[in-house]
Amino acid sequence: MQYGHFDNEKREYVIDRVDLPVSWTNYLGVKDLCVVVNHTAGGYMFYQSPEYHRVTRFRGNAVPMDRPGHYVYLRDAKDGDYWSISWQPVGKPLDQAKYTCRHGISYTTYECDYKGIKASQTLMVPMDDAVELWDVRLKNTTDKERRISVFSYCEFSFHHIMIDNQNFQMSLYCAGSSYAENIIEYDLFYEEFGYQYFTSNVTPDGFDCLRDSFLGAYRTEDNPIAVEHGTCSGSHELGNNHCGSLQKDLVLAPGEEVRLIFMLGEGNREAGKKIREKYSDMANVDAAYAQLKDYWENKFAQLQIKTPNEGMNTLINTWNLYQAEVNIMFSRFASFIEVGGRTGLGYRDTAQDAMTIPHSNPEKCRQRIVELLRGLTTKGYGLHLFSPEWFDPDAKKEKKKPFKSPTVIPTVNAKDIVHGLEDACSDDALWLVPSIIEYIKETGETGFADETVTYADGGEGTVYEHMKRILDFSAEQVGATGICKGLRADWNDCLNLGGGESAMVSFLHYWAICHFLQLAEYLGRTEDVEKYQAMRERVGNVCNRELWDKEWFIRGITKNGKKIGTSEDAEGKVHLESNAWAVLSGAADVEKGKRAMDSVDKYLFTPYGILLNAPSYTVPDDDIGFVTRVYPGLKENGSIFSHPNPWAWAAECVLGRGDRAMKFYNALCPYYQNNMIEIRQSEPYSYCQFVVGRDHTAFGRARHPFMTGSGGWAYFSATRYMLGIRPDFEHLTIDPCIPADWKEFSAVRRWRGAEYDIHVENPDGVMKGVQELYLDGEKVERIPVMAQGSRHDVRVVMG
Ligand code: GLC
Repeated sequence: MQYGHFDNEKREYVIDRVDLPVSWTNYLGVKDLCVVVNHTAGGYMFYQSPEYHRVTRFRGNAVPMDRPGHYVYLRDAKDGDYWSISWQPVGKPLDQAKYTCRHGISYTTYECDYKGIKASQTLMVPMDDAVELWDVRLKNTTDKERRISVFSYCEFSFHHIMIDNQNFQMSLYCAGSSYAENIIEYDLFYEEFGYQYFTSNVTPDGFDCLRDSFLGAYRTEDNPIAVEHGTCSGSHELGNNHCGSLQKDLVLAPGEEVRLIFMLGEGNREAGKKIREKYSDMANVDAAYAQLKDYWENKFAQLQIKTPNEGMNTLINTWNLYQAEVNIMFSRFASFIEVGGRTGLGYRDTAQDAMTIPHSNPEKCRQRIVELLRGLTTKGYGLHLFSPEWFDPDAKKEKKKPFKSPTVIPTVNAKDIVHGLEDACSDDALWLVPSIIEYIKETGETGFADETVTYADGGEGTVYEHMKRILDFSAEQVGATGICKGLRADWNDCLNLGGGESAMVSFLHYWAICHFLQLAEYLGRTEDVEKYQAMRERVGNVCNRELWDKEWFIRGITKNGKKIGTSEDAEGKVHLESNAWAVLSGAADVEKGKRAMDSVDKYLFTPYGILLNAPSYTVPDDDIGFVTRVYPGLKENGSIFSHPNPWAWAAECVLGRGDRAMKFYNALCPYYQNNMIEIRQSEPYSYCQFVVGRDHTAFGRARHPFMTGSGGWAYFSATRYMLGIRPDFEHLTIDPCIPADWKEFSAVRRWRGAEYDIHVENPDGVMKGVQELYLDGEKVERIPVMAQGSRHDVRVVMG
């Protein structure tokens, strides 16, 4: 069953059946003001921090789902009938009202056509102002005059997620609202900077600042009393729950169209006045759209592809990059699943995000890398979850007083922030090494390696030294067989091996060493080259000696010496992570590698992607970890966990098997699940954290869109391994691994200011191998860095 389609020209996903089984999400705002919004205008806004500075309220995990939101109601004065421009909250029957939602890149448009009134509401956040614009248009398509009242509605939140959810004897009396000069001002009395405003470009005919006055007792957003009666009551108060509702009564002549802008922003009434003035001029609204569009088009222009695979084109050219960008901007902590109570940076997640898109967002990737380097301990492990402000020397200089609740919440001691080895994850910091190398290769900023950065527990060192500590930590933290210890967890949060050993981490260690060596060689640091070559060899040998079972690599060894993932096991027999990493890292012997990935195909492949492990665990075993206590087929226990799937695509590319890589790619590709939403349920324009596995009744159901490492990794594996376009320190490598039946594909890649118009031909129907390479018609060995602003033709002949 299909609920919508991709409009690639506009880079929009158009939902034309809005009665979706679950929320389909979008993210608005690219700087400080962010909005998480669904296909019915449900969602919430925050400023900078979803934990400390929430603007509009969200009731997590509630019914009806994902409410309240940023709503616009319309009411016909003639018969009192009312509806909303987004399908919810009023929820008019869909056979009477036509509803559409268009999720675009950092904006969403809701459209409705009901009783001769065509209306739309676009939500977007201009790049330069901390305000959300609600661009509302109404058109009377009848031949009669219509009297329509428009009501906005959003519910303000107490700023801190904690005080928004508990201790109401305090929170209810610290928020106030007032109305003056056409502007609602919302005030968090305890906070020095605790203001927001709601205003519009028109002179309102009514307002309500109190939620309960607008909605009425025993009512919900479905049927607000103010809308039912056709008049707001002018409520405001110091203390209580507040909302932003402005009423405008319009008379629309036949065919007449009007445009109204509501503005929900950060700051006090004075700030609201300035914004009101600015965005009452429609030219400024249109300019804000144009600026946002340019911002995104510039990102997309860094790489655009044209291949025989439409799903891949649509995702790589737009949605997959968008998802990866959203991840690096928002970290993981704002969605309908993560509602802001757990914020900061997850070490491993952020490190991987930063690796995947240095071409479209070098500044943010660099910023994240530096933040993570500061969150590294001198011992060489990273702090699993931390707030970058804690270690930011500039944050201390900031004048703003941090919010301190009058309720005593003990201040964390600086030394308590740095956790010990008992909470260290074995993989966290290893991910950072390739991220740094990829960043340097993309930007050419070699000097970054010798920049000095602090350590979380004191002292400082260069970026290069940080990397060495990371590699040395993993070299020291090995168990009885020489494989890296699993510690609190490895990439798999639910595999808690402690002093037991993790195959995946040893392979990852190998990969990180390879990356570091490339840089050490490039910089001519011979001593390090020798030391780390020896380390790499040791790790490779131990891996091949200790981790091979009969047809695949095991997943690890418990602290009691029991192997995990062997042919003898009835449950958790084959695991994806260790096998994909054995090959992707380059550590596995070629023959073992091939057999390992054949086993992945044989035991783990499903029509929706590759299972994390199979069969799922049913018997708890705390030596293995929490994974054995997760329901079979869900999450880390036998689901199609999306994030490791691209590791398998990359592994197949290392083996040169383009057909298999593409088979794996297509299975997970959400684009190809657009017509099976009755199974998938979630949006087809975003990878989800996981798809329920075959050991569960809901096999094929996808959950947790957008905020997942699969966004970045899918992009990384598809572009760097499958299409094979990857920058090196001084040249651009093009080494595709594609299906044998692809005759050709093309791509435009910008790199260090030059543009490369790449055309790949595959006359012999091979899957890998480059026979000839031409730059502007000349046969060459390599594609060098070309002059800024120049444009070049690159022809690649495979064979
Ligand atoms: C979640 C976590 C990530 C972890 C993965 C597998 O996505 O955010 O850090 O690697 O689960 O457990």
